[in-house]
Amino acid sequence: MTAKANLVVIGTGGTIAGQGKASVNTSSYLCSVLGIDEILGTIPEAAKLANLRAEQLLQTGSENFNNAHLLAIGRRVAELLARDDVDGVVVTHGTDTIEETAYFLHLTLKSAKPVVVVGSMRPPSAMSSDAALNLYDALAVAAHASSRGLGTLVVANNEIHTARDVVKGNSFKLDAFCSPYGALGVVIEGVPRYYRRPARAHTLDTPWSIDALDTLPKVDIVYAYGALDADTLDAITANARGLIYAGTGNGNVAGHLINPLRVAARRGVHVVRASRTGSGVVLHNGAQPDDEFGWLTVDDQAPQKARLLLTLALTQTSDREALQAAFERY
Ligand code: DGL
Repeated sequence: MTAKANLVVIGTGGTIAGQGKASVNTSSYLCSVLGIDEILGTIPEAAKLANLRAEQLLQTGSENFNNAHLLAIGRRVAELLARDDVDGVVVTHGTDTIEETAYFLHLTLKSAKPVVVVGSMRPPSAMSSDAALNLYDALAVAAHASSRGLGTLVVANNEIHTARDVVKGNSFKLDAFCSPYGALGVVIEGVPRYYRRPARAHTLDTPWSIDALDTLPKVDIVYAYGALDADTLDAITANARGLIYAGTGNGNVAGHLINPLRVAARRGVHVVRASRTGSGVVLHNGAQPDDEFGWLTVDDQAPQKARLLLTLALTQTSDREALQAAFERY
């Protein structure tokens, strides 16, 4: 029999740490009130999966997370992964921005040990809450040798997603998390079953290490809509080093915004065409002559993921070809 894995569970808040007045409160409740020890106390079965140690790093909704929160979580996870007596880390997290924290870890941690980020759509106090099972599944995934080398994973609703692809695609349903090409696998009764692996480079195969990151450059996102005007674009890009332009459809740019975005690019703002549709590829030099205009494209990255990738890429280069290459590689 192999020894049980040693896991550290880091609490950061969210619905998984929430509490409602009554069991019918599946959507109205207080977030980030239960401590990580209390949450783990609801699943004594987890002790059979792994030796567990818990620590409370943050206690706030993930809608509040900024770059400093990402750096703090990344540093702590990296410290733990570096220890010989830690085999994997689970981070409990609000679901709103779970995909962003997970992707940031996926790109900046330098370890093959499993890291799983997990949340829930209903608080532990709600009828048919997904909190206990999601956490149990996350621990099962982090404890299992087959999860090594896959980068950071997000576990929800019995599914195991790669941090690169997963997005929260619904505001209240239990199956809120989807990956455009499907989950990597599933978890059934405490055992992960994988059917695919991440194709794009991550963790050990990226040039970014959390240990070397101090401050992060400012990259913003603008969501395209019919009445978006040049003044708004100029205000958004005034202090930014990069702008993810979440255009309509295939990253289309309205005629009256082409020149303002070209001017922004000439001022040194890295303008990246993305799509507000939620999935699909934005083809480079497809809907717009990106190279002629000095723009970049995201490949298939969601705007919130593209922001993180550009942010990290800009810590090492301002070369447009190198930045574009990052979107094709990660
Ligand atoms: N406050 C939201 C967050 O922490 C709650 C959403 C959730 O955790 O499901 O992201």
